[in-house]
Amino acid sequence: MSHVFHRNLRQSYPTAVKGDGAYLIDSEGKSYLDACGGAAVSCLGHSHPAVIKAIQQQVSKLAYAHSSFFTSEPMEQLADWLIERAPAGLESVYFVSGGSEAVEAALKLARQYYLEKGQPQRRHIIARRQSYHGNTLGALATGGNAWRRQPFEPLLMEVSHVSPCYAYRGQQEGESAEAYGQRLVAELEQEILRLGSDNVMAFVAEPVVGATLGAVTAVPGYFKGIRALCDRYGILLLLDEVMCGMGRTGYLFAAEYEGISPDLLCIAKGLGAGYQPIGATLVSGEIVNTLRNGSGFFQHGHTYIGHATACAAALAVMKTIEKDELLTQVQRLGHGLHERLQAQFDQHPHIGNIRGRGLFWGLELVADRDSKAAFDPNLKVHAKIKQAAMQAGLMCYPMGGTLDGRQGDHILLAPPFILTDSQLDELVDKLGQACQQVLAR
Ligand SMILES: Cc1ncc(COP(=O)(O)O)c(C=O)c1O
Repeated sequence: MSHVFHRNLRQSYPTAVKGDGAYLIDSEGKSYLDACGGAAVSCLGHSHPAVIKAIQQQVSKLAYAHSSFFTSEPMEQLADWLIERAPAGLESVYFVSGGSEAVEAALKLARQYYLEKGQPQRRHIIARRQSYHGNTLGALATGGNAWRRQPFEPLLMEVSHVSPCYAYRGQQEGESAEAYGQRLVAELEQEILRLGSDNVMAFVAEPVVGATLGAVTAVPGYFKGIRALCDRYGILLLLDEVMCGMGRTGYLFAAEYEGISPDLLCIAKGLGAGYQPIGATLVSGEIVNTLRNGSGFFQHGHTYIGHATACAAALAVMKTIEKDELLTQVQRLGHGLHERLQAQFDQHPHIGNIRGRGLFWGLELVADRDSKAAFDPNLKVHAKIKQAAMQAGLMCYPMGGTLDGRQGDHILLAPPFILTDSQLDELVDKLGQACQQVLAR
């Protein structure tokens, strides 16, 4: 029996032994097309020579130096690279080892900023239902997925949750997309006023909602309205691009598409592309300067901040995305994937909605297309599709609880940026087989 505390203690997992481009290969020799990057991580596939070389070179020179003693070349270079391309106003990068750590750092930084700015009463966080911001306690409290939160509720700090921007279910008949977006902005304003606008610290949102909703993009004007509202009340806008950032949507930063700049921006996953664990919080000049002119330091930290090997890997990932013009490729492949998904599933009686951007797509499963009724959660349709897809040699990322943490199912797709057109065909074909096997029953 394994001594590993696996995610599911009743399940046995195939042993992954090799990565080969867009495929993972197990110890039996079976290969799986990785159409979800694990959880939107492996954006360059699994054996990219440039990243492997950068890691080997860095580790043979300097693997790690603790950030309370030293800075390092890869950490400085990666910060320069990111800030040169980041939305306007972001000026510093706080490196961590993953997405939850990036969100925790951003929340604590928001709090410390207001303390040093002489507004200690600002402590409320507002986020959205059906969001996911990580599993550490602060990030979990911020997230709005009821199922993930429920067992730990007594341990979670108080956070307000407003509606997500989820047109498939939230936009009313006869309401334009723009009017829907503005209705949601007004809902946020109501919540700000209820809490007292001087007491609110930050609004937190994923520009494209990933794991818990399945690649849900916002309607036009929504994020511009949110930015303006935060500015009006002096509230920080914290965008969580842990899943949707680093090229996944066809833009290096998902916020670019929305034409806005946040005050704090979290990234991870595609930053290290799975070659190294790394995340980061990008911080506005206003926040950094307030701390610089105040206490002079951020009262936070982890052992592996700015790990030299992780930064070298991430820098190689970023340079590869740019050198190989992968953002353009993501946009092109994204159109191709969307077309193929439409062709395969548009008339499917149990696919209610296909949505996404770039190489980040979601399919929402329904028992009935007209009423949009969800499947009985006890059927665990999402889990069955994951299993059927694995049998067919395909990794996709189905999840339940799409509507409210309990009801609803979706499938998330986040394939690598290096996919070929024939692999797009293979992806949709295998997904079709898996859906057929489960949904035809
Ligand atoms: C939007 C978002 N934020 C935060 C996280 C947490 O990241 P990690 O699992 O690296 O801690 C995730 C992970 O799925 C995520 O999708």
